[in-house]
Amino acid sequence: MTLHADRREPDIYIVGLGIKGIEHVTRETESVCRRSQEILAVPTLPAGMTHLRDLCHRVTDLHPVSYREDENRLNAYDTMSAMVLAAALDHPPVTFATYGHPLVYVYPTRQILDAAPYLGLDVKVLPAVSALDTMTIDLDFDPAIDGLQMYEATDLLVRQRPLQADVPCLLWQVGAVESVLYSSALNSPERFFRIKDYLLRFYPPEHEVAAVYSSPHPLFDASVVRFTLADMERHHDQLHQGLTLYIPPLSRRPVADADLIAKVESVEHLRSITHDTAAPGPRSEK
Ligand SMILES: C[S@@+](CC[C@H](N)C(=O)[O-])C[C@H]1O[C@@H](n2cnc3c(N)ncnc32)[C@H](O)[C@@H]1O
Repeated sequence: MTLHADRREPDIYIVGLGIKGIEHVTRETESVCRRSQEILAVPTLPAGMTHLRDLCHRVTDLHPVSYREDENRLNAYDTMSAMVLAAALDHPPVTFATYGHPLVYVYPTRQILDAAPYLGLDVKVLPAVSALDTMTIDLDFDPAIDGLQMYEATDLLVRQRPLQADVPCLLWQVGAVESVLYSSALNSPERFFRIKDYLLRFYPPEHEVAAVYSSPHPLFDASVVRFTLADMERHHDQLHQGLTLYIPPLSRRPVADADLIAKVESVEHLRSITHDTAAPGPRSEK
């Protein structure tokens, strides 16, 4: 561990606001928001802006100025990143605050990180609570047990990515599958025909999946709607753009390396792969 001598403020902080409103905002994030000249934000719900206004005198809601019905979502991300970069050039430090974790499926974060060096701007990204964190609770699920595969739903289809039926799967943006255009329209059953057919290549029709929507506000519960793959399109009105599809594994993969499994509880084997000096850092738990 090395102590940071250089405590200079970056020009841009990129933070996540978590999923459940104010309760998920970390102290570290609050602290940088207080030190910022402007917060440019995309919270889960408009109510998230209220808390940010308590932290900084200048707060800009990027959602209404970026998204346009039926327009490519990339245009919205271009607007967001351009506004953050312009603000940082004019009155640093500024904070770009998105819901969830700022590096989990957040394209404008990538754009800002890529463009900033060309403009001589320093950027610091802070960790935050993602829907991945909240869904592990809502689904009572530990990814250490059978691993985890997760894909963006449209990307899964266009690349025809193979799925491993013995590994839990999260499909992000399933309610927005098949289009990069922004839309607030409700989904029709037709939106889910292609993805259902694709999933049926790997899972049987009677396999039960879950549409998970973690609580976006302390007053709401999480919603986990379970249905069989065969019935997927019948749930079109529940499959909105904010949720994620969870596909549990069909079966457990059997042990393939009998030699190693025999060694994992052996002290002699442990001695053969370690040496006497105590390991630095925190104690690990499992
Ligand atoms: C553009 S991504 C943003 C993810 C966000 N940065 C995060 O860390 O969770 C939007 C997708 O995240 C997932 N998502 C966002 N909020 C969620 C929630 N409350 N419950 C479940 N999934 C959610 C959905 O798959 C949704 O389509």
